[in-house]
Amino acid sequence: MPEEQPMVLFKDVEKVYRGGNVAVEHINLEIHKGDFVCLIGTSGSGKTTTMRMINRMLEPSGGQILFNGKDIHKIDAVKLRRQIGYVIQNIGLMPHMTIYENITIVPKLLKWPEEKRREKAKELLDLVELPEDYLDRYPSELSGGQQQRIGVIRALAANQDLILMDEPYGALDPITREALQELIKNLQEKLGKTVVFVTHDMDEALKLATKIVVMDHGHIIQNSTPTELLTHPANKFVENLVGQDRLVQARADVTTVEQIMLKNPAAITPGKSLAEAILLMRKRRVDTLLVTDDENHLKGFIDLESLETRYQSATSVGDIIKTSIFYVNKDSLLRDTADRILKRGLKYVPVVDHDKKLVGIVTRAALVDVVYDTIWGDNDDKSDDIGSDQADSDTENTASATAASEAPANSDTPKEV
Ligand SMILES: Nc1ncnc2c1ncn2[C@@H]1O[C@H](COP(=O)(O)OP(=O)(O)O)[C@@H](O)[C@H]1O
Ligand SMILES: [Mg+2]
Repeated sequence: MPEEQPMVLFKDVEKVYRGGNVAVEHINLEIHKGDFVCLIGTSGSGKTTTMRMINRMLEPSGGQILFNGKDIHKIDAVKLRRQIGYVIQNIGLMPHMTIYENITIVPKLLKWPEEKRREKAKELLDLVELPEDYLDRYPSELSGGQQQRIGVIRALAANQDLILMDEPYGALDPITREALQELIKNLQEKLGKTVVFVTHDMDEALKLATKIVVMDHGHIIQNSTPTELLTHPANKFVENLVGQDRLVQARADVTTVEQIMLKNPAAITPGKSLAEAILLMRKRRVDTLLVTDDENHLKGFIDLESLETRYQSATSVGDIIKTSIFYVNKDSLLRDTADRILKRGLKYVPVVDHDKKLVGIVTRAALVDVVYDTIWGDNDDKSDDIGSDQADSDTENTASATAASEAPANSDTPKEV
């Protein structure tokens, strides 16, 4: 695939304000057509500075910015800004201008003919499902929500390829804000616009962005998709910015059962004798065995209890097999299965592939580990302790079908029969 030329390219850009305040440095950033880039970070981290250099409201002190491959220094600032829209917080509609005039302020400045302006205004009004006769009304004749929608389409009126938005919804109440976020995201996708959007609200960034650029003290700390940010935060700063709740949720959202299952569960075929089953249980230090056919399809399980009670009357594993068994597919998301496993109080669950062949088991202890790992990080000692504490308190048959080497040390493994 040929490398598509970025719409905006920052090459080692730096901005030092008068007095020597280094606002940003070593900024390297690619913005591609159709991207919705959210710049996020603490106050004073350089978001606004970075954004304002794109349309030359601020000039970089070092480095280079290219717009469609061209050094913006070599583009006339007025011409550049014709192609780049700019929206700042809370710019309301002009009360003395009609909706039509409000929508077409910039096209008018750009000297579009009247007819073209009118066409554009109608088209945009249609996009937000407002009737055409609103064009000649004044803002005070519209509801608050309608006025906000006009504010959004006004940003799109000049057909600019790139739109810069600096915390445009920062001061709005949550409900209005959510409605406008949805609207701008919708329109951006529908019209194929490229947006650079400054925010300090992670929910907003996660909802809107195709790329999230995390800034701190004038540097870009991470530049990735929302999913990457959630699943692989670059450092503690990003983790804190994202918040533990979202990280826990994200981990369960992408982790599959296969990633945490134990392979090589203790299993036996139906034709084997009960004596062989007991030997295997002792060898693997488990109190249940999964039963599979010769092709490894999961058929059921046997447990120590039925072995003990039926030892006299039965001869083979097939005679005492229990076929009612809860299992999960290896591709299931932890999110969808963990809850069920924990709530059902199951000590383990067999994992099968698409042909219902046994490929592993998930133990309750492993699940608990994942949950605690996520909360407390990769502190091995800690999560091990928690894992086995949980296992020990889990009554007599903790070992279940787990291979001994993988199971927590357990004093109560199967007794001789
Ligand atoms: N005109 C200015 N003169 C001097 N310093 C400035 C000016 N504007 C911003 N700064 C400083 O540059 C840094 C980055 O500011 P800014 O880009 O506005 O951050 P953000 O938008 O992330 O809050 C801050 O330390 C800020 O105080
Ligand atoms: Mg700012």
